[in-house]
Amino acid sequence: MGSASEQIIVPLDVPGEGEAIALLDALPQVTFWKVGLELFVSSGPTLLKELKSRNKRIFLDLKFHDIPNTMAGACRAAGRYGVDLLTVHAASGKAALMAAQTAAAEGAQASGCEPPRVIAVTLLTSIDERSLSTDLKIPVALTDYIQQMALLAQESGLRGAVCSPQEASLLRRTCGDDFWLVCPGVRPTWAQKGDQQRAMTPAEAVQAGAHYLVIGRPITQAADPAAAFAQICEEMGG
Ligand code: C5P
Repeated sequence: MGSASEQIIVPLDVPGEGEAIALLDALPQVTFWKVGLELFVSSGPTLLKELKSRNKRIFLDLKFHDIPNTMAGACRAAGRYGVDLLTVHAASGKAALMAAQTAAAEGAQASGCEPPRVIAVTLLTSIDERSLSTDLKIPVALTDYIQQMALLAQESGLRGAVCSPQEASLLRRTCGDDFWLVCPGVRPTWAQKGDQQRAMTPAEAVQAGAHYLVIGRPITQAADPAAAFAQICEEMGG
């Protein structure tokens, strides 16, 4: 896993290329960046090439959810960019998940890159227990559903999941050490919680079983982003 600084993934949560490049320039010490839907739709391919040219690791968080053939096509294309992590929804089902992992590796191989690790979104954190049962008609406890989705992903050949730090210890026990847990919802004690009300500190999240932490606003909105990043690394033990 490497040092604390290599365990932190910073999201490029900005609308376009100019703002993204400014963030990359402001934080040269960040090695791992997340590209999500907004930035990808506005300027994805250019940005991914820019990140590769700076030797950065890339978490492409597009949360694919489709039939196996379409998932395979999208994952093959993502694999060609040489990304390191790629998200798909576990609820896409076993055939789609298997197709996703295989196609991502094929895409990477075609462009001479390492295969990305395809990881599963178990359940969006915007879905709570009430909407799971009332709106989606899934009558199981939230944590049981999350655990089942992680197991489905693992059985389908995926090698990790995105989860809240609150679920990290359960999923680490359920899926083992080689199944990477990537956790947003992390806040140092000195940062504002914002909309991450159930956040853990970086050290607590790692202690709970997270392999990687996605930490955005405490770094990107800080008066001195580089100093905030350095402080988090120090609090995690360097
Ligand atoms: O700024 P903040 O640290 O809250 O950013 C967290 C990042 O992780 C954002 O890109 C957000 O979209 C993403 N994320 C999240 N909660 C989830 C899944 C993804 O905060 N359940």
